[in-house]
Amino acid sequence: MSSSRPAAAVVVLAAGEGTRMKSKTPKVLHELCGRSLVGHVVAASRELEPENLVVVVGHGRDQVTAHLAQIDASARTAVQEEQNGTGHAVRMGLEPLGGRIAGTVVVVCGDTPLLTGATLRKLAATHSADGNAVTVLTAEMPDATGYGRIVRDNVSGAVTAIVEHKDATEAQRAISEINSGVFAFDGELLADALGKVRTDNSQGEEYLTDVLGILREAGHRVGASVAGDHREISGINNRVQLSEARRILNDRLLHEAMMAGVTVVDPASTFVDVTVTFEPDAIVLPGTQLHGATHIAAGAEVGPNTRLTDTKVGAGARVDNTVANSAEIGPDALVGPFAYLRPGTRLDAKGKIGTFVETKNATIGEGTKVPHLSYVGDATIGEYSNIGAASVFVNYDGAAKHHTTIGSHCRTGSDNMFVAPVTVGDGAYTAAGSVITKDVPPGSLAVARGQQRNIEGWVARKRPGSAAANAALAAAQESDSES
Ligand code: UD1
Ligand code: CA
Repeated sequence: MSSSRPAAAVVVLAAGEGTRMKSKTPKVLHELCGRSLVGHVVAASRELEPENLVVVVGHGRDQVTAHLAQIDASARTAVQEEQNGTGHAVRMGLEPLGGRIAGTVVVVCGDTPLLTGATLRKLAATHSADGNAVTVLTAEMPDATGYGRIVRDNVSGAVTAIVEHKDATEAQRAISEINSGVFAFDGELLADALGKVRTDNSQGEEYLTDVLGILREAGHRVGASVAGDHREISGINNRVQLSEARRILNDRLLHEAMMAGVTVVDPASTFVDVTVTFEPDAIVLPGTQLHGATHIAAGAEVGPNTRLTDTKVGAGARVDNTVANSAEIGPDALVGPFAYLRPGTRLDAKGKIGTFVETKNATIGEGTKVPHLSYVGDATIGEYSNIGAASVFVNYDGAAKHHTTIGSHCRTGSDNMFVAPVTVGDGAYTAAGSVITKDVPPGSLAVARGQQRNIEGWVARKRPGSAAANAALAAAQESDSES
């Protein structure tokens, strides 16, 4: 059916300055749930499968162009040197396409990150099904101040014009249906009409909205598609609106997750990126932030107070009060409370990274435990080994990083220093307090610490009359009287 035909082009308007953000960062590059504002708009636009996607850049265009190259290599950019209005911006946007293109051209704004692909698809479908020259996406706004108003014919209800707030009469300002700034056009009619747009308005700009009246007067069909949720089309102009949009988008993402079988104990204190994925029966406890390519498998429980970035959590694993970045946590593994997993950490099934433990570039085998107060950096540990409390993998000699290898079924003592590069063989033990500088053969016990020496009577001789000396004297008398 015609409605499923891909759009010939999407033009994203993103040349505006965004002064109200009060930021060195161009407005459309501000972040929201793991994507830039313009990144959200580009992602929604891609759902139309357009043959061409052009982003019109102006303010901060070097940064915006570089960002676009990263997120969407096939997006093109067009430069609008001066912001002479939305109509002018679309004219610039059509230039890389030869100034005109046959088929449907959809125009969206770069600062409306809540706009969904579904709404764009509905707009495009209405546009082709009704055979319109232009179809505007509209919404009923509780407060329409500042927006262009949709003027409809009293009798037929057909859209006749869009009037900018600044140019509107009192009666027109009372209209609550507004222009979202999103349109579907017939590409060739759009190009012709843009050539006829004038600048005799209160802002002295080329208004894209005037195209609608121009096409209507030329006898073409003009239509509207009303957005189901007005919040979808609200633009971001300042940091308050940015936080409001974050709340809305975050709620939307958590709603989807919950409907798909994820328990989110406290959506108000849980934050997720659009790129985070879950399996059913995952549980997210309060105060948890999940970013990037993080994945939480079935039955895993994360949180409370946990921040995971690009981290995979295996089925049935438990991650408590933890910060992890680019880590992989195996099925039924235990992490935390109070663990810090840095990039390259891989904990296999049923393993444990316990309390006050930091890891980096470390592979920890199945069933192996690092339970307490330790640093494991640049290491490979086999299966079912136990690393004693307060151990440090001494990986850095001040110039270079070195690797430590510990085998399977090892029992290393508490307070060990493994001075890399060093290898502990399978089934080996190490004594508490050892500084391991030499390789330990499989099955041996390594003891690497000073022998204990007790110098009797030292306190009485060196600290006579002290509380320690008196306590020692009392202890000696007590043991005398007992014997
Ligand atoms: C525009 C619409 C208004 C609509 C509102 C919705 C016009 C004349 N008015 O008003 O009817 O209700 O959006 O938010 O179209 N931009 C450029 N180059 C320019 C001007 C704008 O790229 O020369 C971009 C901006 O970066 C922004 C978008 O176009 O992403 C909208 O521009 P903005 O100035 O916010 O338009 P409004 O005056 O709000
Ligand atoms: Ca605006």
